[in-house]
Formats: sequence, C-alpha cells, structure tokens
Amino acid sequence: MDKLNDIERQIAIQLLREGKSLPDDYKSKIFDVKKEYELIYEGKQREEDILADTMAVPLQRVKTFRNSDDDDDTMMNKLIFGDNLQILKTLLQMKNEGKLKNADGTPGVRLIYIDPPFATKQEFRGSKDQKAYQDKIAGAKFVEYLRKRLIFLRELLSSDGSIYVHLDWKKCHYVKIVMDETFGENKFETEIVYKRTLGHHLASGMDKMTDSIFLYRKGEYLLFKQTYQSLTDEEIKEKFPFVEKETGRRYTHEKLEQKSNAYSKDQIRVINGRKVKTELGWRWTQETFDKRIAENLYLIFWTKEGKPRYKRYADEYRGRKLGNLWDDIELISSNSSEAVGYPTQKPEALLTRIIKASSNEGDLVLDCFAGSGTTLAVAEKLGRQWIGIDCGKLSIYTMQKRLLKIEESKDIENPKKKYGKQCNLFALYNAGLYDYKMIKELHWEQYREFALKLFQCRSERHEISKIQLDGYLGADNVMVFNHQKYSDAVMDRGFIDDLHSYLKDKIGKQFFIIAPAASVKFLEDYIEKGNTKYYILRIPYSIIEEIHDRGFERIKQPVNEKDVNDTVESVGFDFIQIPIVECRYIKENRENKEFFNIKEDKYIIKIDRFESRILSRKPVHFENIETLSMVMLDYDFDGEVFDLDEVFYAEDLKKIDYEVRFDKEKVKGDIMIIYLDVFGNEKREVKRVEDFSQRS
Ligand SMILES: C[S@@+](CC[C@H](N)C(=O)[O-])C[C@H]1O[C@@H](n2cnc3c(N)ncnc32)[C@H](O)[C@@H]1O
Repeated sequence: MDKLNDIERQIAIQLLREGKSLPDDYKSKIFDVKKEYELIYEGKQREEDILADTMAVPLQRVKTFRNSDDDDDTMMNKLIFGDNLQILKTLLQMKNEGKLKNADGTPGVRLIYIDPPFATKQEFRGSKDQKAYQDKIAGAKFVEYLRKRLIFLRELLSSDGSIYVHLDWKKCHYVKIVMDETFGENKFETEIVYKRTLGHHLASGMDKMTDSIFLYRKGEYLLFKQTYQSLTDEEIKEKFPFVEKETGRRYTHEKLEQKSNAYSKDQIRVINGRKVKTELGWRWTQETFDKRIAENLYLIFWTKEGKPRYKRYADEYRGRKLGNLWDDIELISSNSSEAVGYPTQKPEALLTRIIKASSNEGDLVLDCFAGSGTTLAVAEKLGRQWIGIDCGKLSIYTMQKRLLKIEESKDIENPKKKYGKQCNLFALYNAGLYDYKMIKELHWEQYREFALKLFQCRSERHEISKIQLDGYLGADNVMVFNHQKYSDAVMDRGFIDDLHSYLKDKIGKQFFIIAPAASVKFLEDYIEKGNTKYYILRIPYSIIEEIHDRGFERIKQPVNEKDVNDTVESVGFDFIQIPIVECRYIKENRENKEFFNIKEDKYIIKIDRFESRILSRKPVHFENIETLSMVMLDYDFDGEVFDLDEVFYAEDLKKIDYEVRFDKEKVKGDIMIIYLDVFGNEKREVKRVEDFSQRS
C-alpha cells in the first residue's frame, strides 16, 4: 500500500481539521480499503514488482544530428531504438536525477501520447472454443504488456502532466479499467472519439470507423488550453448567411432574448439607451449588457418590430469549441503530402490538437510507440522538446528521415506553406542492443559508468583491504576490470586467487566482476573460493539469467508489412553482431524495351547467403536467410546519413527468390544497402550502378 507523502499528509490534516472529506486516492493510502472493482487476469503482476524488477538499459548515443559541440544529453531531443519498457525505466532514473525538465523547470514529461499496437496477432489452431480461449490469453497478455508501460509513464509525467492513449474498439474497455487502476478513476478526463476512417466496408456487420483516445491527468490540475475547431466553407455560409454590402463581411443576427432558464422574465433592460421588455427572458444581466456593449463586443441594431439584435461576423468567430468528438480530421491517404509510407501513421492535425491543448512551448513531449514519428515532427514544429522510442529499425529510419527533412513538410499554421526550418539538435540512441566497438572506445570513466549501468549496478567507489571497488549490485560488491589501464592483464584463475587472498573474510557470499569477454580466460560463470562465489559479468554477454530471474529475450524485427505493428517485448541487452551477407549485383537488360515503352533496365541484388551471428550460450541453428527481416535502400547516399528510400520485406523477397529488384531511374548517386536481421543487427554496404553486371 502506498503511503501519503509529507505534503499530502499536511493537506489531509488540514482537510480533516476543516471537517472536509479526503480525496479518494488519499483514503486508499490511509486505510487498507479493498478496491470496489478491479480487472483480474492471469499473469497480472504487482505494481511494486513491475517497478522494481524492470531492468533499466543505458542509452548509447550513436549519432548526433544538427551538429553541435554540446555534449550534454540533457539538452538534446532523443530518438531511441529499443524496447520501451526498459527505456522508460532509464528515463525515470533520468527524471529522478533532474535530467528531464519542462520549460518552467518542473521535472518530468508534460505530455505523453501513445498509439500502441492494438492487440496481439495470434496463430489459431484447433476448435472454435480453443480459439476463443487462446484469444483471451492473448488479450490478457496484451493488457498486461500495456499496463506495465502505463505504470512507468505515470511515474514519468510531471505533476500537472497528461497522457493520451490511442486505442481501437477491440481492447479499449479493458485498458480503460487498468488505466483507472493505474492513474485513479478520478483522473480520467475524457474519452475522445476519433473518426479514423470512412469505413472498412465489411462484408457483414457494422464498419468500425472510430478509435478511442483516453485522456488522463497525473495530478489534481489539468493543463488544458481550449482550442476551437474551424468550420468548413459550407458551414460558415450556413451559420453566417448575410453579407454586409459595404464591407463584404459575412455575419449573422443573434437574438438577445432567450427562453427557459433565462434571467429575469418580464424585466426591463436598457440597451443603447432604449428601454425594452420581453416575455421570454434575457440572455444576460443588465451589467453584462453594459459591459459587453461598452467593450464594443456586440454591435446592437434594431429590427422593424423594435427588437434588439446583435451582429456576429464570420471573420471574428473563433470556431466551434472543441468537444470530445473528433470527426473533422482529414485522413492520410497514400498520396497525401504527409504520408511517409509507414503503416498506421497518424495525421499531424491530430497531434497538433493534442500538443497545443496540453503543453506549452519548450515542454517535454514523449511518445514511446513512435512509429513514423508524427508526435515528434509536430512537437518539433510547435517548439516543444521531444523523446521518441520505437523498437523497429524501419520506424527509426523513417523518423530520422522525417526529422531531417522537416523543412520540406507542411507548416502547421498554414498547411499550404512549407515549414521551412531545419530541426533542432537531436541524437539517436541505442538502448538494449549495443555497438560494442563504440563502448570499447569510450574513455575509462564513461566505460566504467556504462558497464555498471548495463548490469544494473550502483556506481559507488569504495575500498576493501586497499582494493579499489566500483559499486554494488544489491548489497554485493562490484569491480569493473580495468582492461584499458592494464592492457596485458588477463582475468584468469590466478587473478581470482590473488583477489581472494586480499578480500576473503571481508566480503559476502557473492562478488561481481565486470570484464570484456576477451579478457576472461575461463569459461565458468563463477569461481568459488572459500565462502564466496566470484561471478564474472562478461561484456558482450547475452545471457543474464544469473542475475535476473527472467530470461533474456531479443528484440524482434518484422518480416512483412502486417507485422510492423506487432507488440514486441524484449528483456536484457545484447551486442550488435553484423550478419554475414553474400550477394550478386545484377543488371538485367529488358527485352523489347521500345515495344513495351520501358525506359530502364532492372537492377537486382540477389541474396545468396544471409547468416545472423548472434551470441548465445547454447548453439543455435538457422536455415540460410531464415533470419532476414528486411532490406532497406537509400538511392542517393550522401556518404554520412542513411536516408531511407525503399524497403523490401523478407517475406515478399522470399517469393521472388530473394532478389531485391529496382529500376535504375530511382538511383541518383551511391546506393546504401542495409540488410537487417530479425534481431535488429545490420550489415551495411555502399554500391554504385557500375558494380552491377550482366547476369552470367
Ligand atoms: C501503431 S504504431 C505507432 C504509429 C504512430 N503513432 C505514427 O503516427 O506513426 C506502433 C509502434 O509501436 C512500436 N512498438 C511495438 N512494441 C514496442 C515496444 N515494446 N517498444 C517500442 N516500440 C514498440 C512498433 O514498432 C510500431 O512502430
């Protein structure tokens, strides 16, 4: 049970003194009240365990865009590749260290928007009943998958922050209940009904045309800036039917009398010096009339019957006050200028409305299911700071390109214009799948910190028997083996013997040493000496069951377009292992080109061999090309940044014998090719058209 913090305790005492009732969430913190209702399902973990057991994975900066000399990660917008759960834990640590702040200095994230994969895809076998049962299991897993992330997101929000969770009709009701449990039912602001499609034209049944977006606030106060929906030209004509001859301005007449709950039936009002009476009642009190007329807000005129009316001009109308039915946002079609070719991309207008309403300029906006980067692009254009996370490489390259080309995209205020500005400084990070070469090249201090974080150790220098130690794992001592300083030292049995002779009676049952795998000269995970087990945490190290009771799970990349929106969960970390790729580069002359009016020859990358080289304790075997996820091409590589132009999914390639085929006319310079495996490892190469030769 959570306890009241000091401030809450003071407030509670004050409320009780004043004889007032306590807020609902205080009651549950003071008394051991059972929840009236709760969603129960298999595999639901305790919140405390989720917060404690989730591993944090350090962020490894891979590249900084819009170069700057500033080396401070706090200052940069962040694009992070990896499983969001572990990364959210890392971000939470950063929040606690004061490294995530809004424009006004409040710690945390002001606004979160997420559009998670909607539900898990399942392979169903067996009878109908069995299928229904399987479906429920998949549903429970999905709800728990999301709940875990929601718990961290709540912790990351600043005290007046808010979260928008975008879901479809399948699972949204379950998620609503776990959101009530996670945030508190009294923090639920509204459900936005968003019309996302004109309909799927199902053969039977009703078309599902809307999504639900749940809005919750973190604390008592909600930052919400009222926005107004503009009307269509047709609606304007209907609402403002008259045109002023002299000025051409559209306007309407509005009555000042009002039926029913109106003020003061039969009372007299003095309007512009005239005394008037109505049986209906008045819209405003006399003071309001006086004030509004004095401020020139309302232009009063009189009908032939002597009734007062006021004019409202169309060009002064702010629009319809925003309600929770959002049916006016234009859909993205494949040929709209906004489309970046990523399945499930959401419109910028949707995110514009959300970001404008619930954040201020300079505030921090987070999307941890970032996809094509709509949230980030809009946040950038509206002058917010942003953090985007996605576990798909395709998503990362799509976002990178979108941000680097943002000046060519639509302006938010005037969509007919281009945005025209370059994006601010941002950096790309890996979290969970690391480039070991880069880690080895870090300065000792940075390496030491990274290595400790990788194994969830606390960095805290201390000394035992004059031996320098680096920190703790739980209550046990940790040493980071300094392979840089003592480059010819190796970690062999003799080293452990020597260490033990110094430390023996002064340490507990476990002692941890972090060392590069190449420096360790024995195979065991630990060596036992006296009462102590000396554990070796090797870098690279893929199997971490010894320290975490949950098994290591790799991140997965999709093999076809349908899977791009799959739920992905990974646990632990791994190191990039470049796959082995062998290809032939073929130029295929088209027969009868003139006859068929085909201008260009075909270029083909024929993949003969593709092998992932994952690190694993048990030998693993994959068939040739089995682990290929996709091939991504940049047709005009600038020598520095990969700029994604086209993607070929493995499942589609399989049908055409693993031939990546493209027209020569697409090629505008060097071709950068990325072969991606399902574990997220890449092999990159650069080719020119001259490297392609006739099929022999
Ligand atoms: C529906 S899409 C988001 C689309 C996005 N709103 C847009 O406008 O482009 C969901 C994204 O979540 C990502 N995803 C799924 N599981 C994830 C995880 N555990 N960590 C990070 N990203 C994840 C998928 O790769 C996918 O890109």
